[in-house]
Amino acid sequence: MLESGFLSYGSPAVNIVILAAGAGKRMRSALPKVLHPLAGRPLLSHVLDTARSLSPTRLVVVVGHGGDVVRKTVAAPDVAFAEQTQQLGTGHAVQQALPLLDLSVPTLVLYGDVPLTRASTLKRLVDAAAAGHYGVLTVTLDDPTGYGRIVRDAKGRVTRIVEHKDATASEREIAEINTGIVIAPTGRLTGWLASLKNDNVQQEFYLTDVVECAIRDGVEVVTAHPDEEWETLGVNSKAQLAELERVQQRNTAMQLLEAGVTLADPARIDVRGTLRCGQDVSIDVNCVFEGEVDLADGVSIGPNCVIRHAKIGAGTQVAAFTSIDEAIVGERTVLGPYARLRPGAQLADESHVGNFVEIKNAILGVGAKANHLSYIGDADIGARVNVGAGVITCNYDGANKHRTVIEDDVFIGSDTQLVAPVRVGRNVTIAAGTTIWKDVPPDTLVLNEKTQRTRDGYVRPVKQKKK
Ligand code: UD1
Ligand code: CA
Repeated sequence: MLESGFLSYGSPAVNIVILAAGAGKRMRSALPKVLHPLAGRPLLSHVLDTARSLSPTRLVVVVGHGGDVVRKTVAAPDVAFAEQTQQLGTGHAVQQALPLLDLSVPTLVLYGDVPLTRASTLKRLVDAAAAGHYGVLTVTLDDPTGYGRIVRDAKGRVTRIVEHKDATASEREIAEINTGIVIAPTGRLTGWLASLKNDNVQQEFYLTDVVECAIRDGVEVVTAHPDEEWETLGVNSKAQLAELERVQQRNTAMQLLEAGVTLADPARIDVRGTLRCGQDVSIDVNCVFEGEVDLADGVSIGPNCVIRHAKIGAGTQVAAFTSIDEAIVGERTVLGPYARLRPGAQLADESHVGNFVEIKNAILGVGAKANHLSYIGDADIGARVNVGAGVITCNYDGANKHRTVIEDDVFIGSDTQLVAPVRVGRNVTIAAGTTIWKDVPPDTLVLNEKTQRTRDGYVRPVKQKKK
């Protein structure tokens, strides 16, 4: 089983502040940056999940641009919001959250647009700073351009952080950068933030300047580092969002492989939600899973399937190009290629749904088969019913939907229309091409009278030549 469940760590108590007030201009979108989806969920929701895994004493999101939408999207009883009406810098942003924090525990600052930091990395930072230190999560990059640089003295102690824009040429040579994620004793932080000045190139109140305040007050500055570089990558543009999406999908694919799932190509699967897999599940290329999806033991999924909010029973085989949305599928069923299950489809064990068959809000009984070109909507189909090619439930009268009930062991001939509401009794045989608009008693043959005529000497029209 693979779950994106929360890890729970016995780390010291902390407040967590998530900065999410920035506009995200480079996304060129009306949607606030932190709400852009990564693996099907807003960036900010990923950060909130990680934050929650540390069981914070207080959890505060600083909002500004698009604040109303952001609040609505992530509202929860454990989340408080602080408003930063003007974006005057990261230090100023943290300051807005102070009244909502517990002064007796340290405060960890995270970023709403840095979605993939692992809880284990944050815990390492929290532990490093546990004795009342100021902690900074840093990483050494091949290309540190644009980031704040960590300046250390001869003894290797951090002395300050200098923003790229404010750095000298030699400071720009420094490869160790500030990820932005820091932890500080909260009482002290209040005073330090109040003392910040904005005399820098961007005329902002920099959170990074707090390092110098801490040193001045004799507070030790410690650093911790992530295991992976991608944990600290932020999203400022659609290109970076696409890159992080690939990182996240690759991580999910690796977890699936480790859990024993067979993936035809770990680079060609997209999980936008939670995919739980039993033993010996195999997934071919280009499949997309959305929301909560459960695949039981021995399920195999063919190429190019889209499966959303579904439970699929053991031993079921889903062939290529099948689309499943809000459906429950039993054991040892056979689906597709090109089957379409829409919301409310419930297939019992050993049923078959073949190509170009659409099933909506309908139950298919044990061993029932609908193998070719059908629409089954708002219907109860009994056990072992054979639905012939081209059978249509006429469930809609133009105003209301009605139900079709087919009892066990019915044989529905090809090209039959069932005009709902209608009930067909058990063991009925419906001749091909029948229109059923009245209930049919059990154990009968039902057909419409039609006359087949043959005319001799018929001449087919021929196409006239253009002059
Ligand atoms: C910041 C750090 C830099 C670090 C980099 C890591 C400062 C001064 N600089 O730079 O050292 O290397 O992150 O990515 O902290 N935000 C607000 N309100 C504001 C300003 C920012 O909420 O007034 C939020 C933004 O939405 C964003 C985050 O804070 O989520 C970082 O702000 P940004 O302006 O992107 O900082 P950087 O210049 O990248
Ligand atoms: Ca940034």
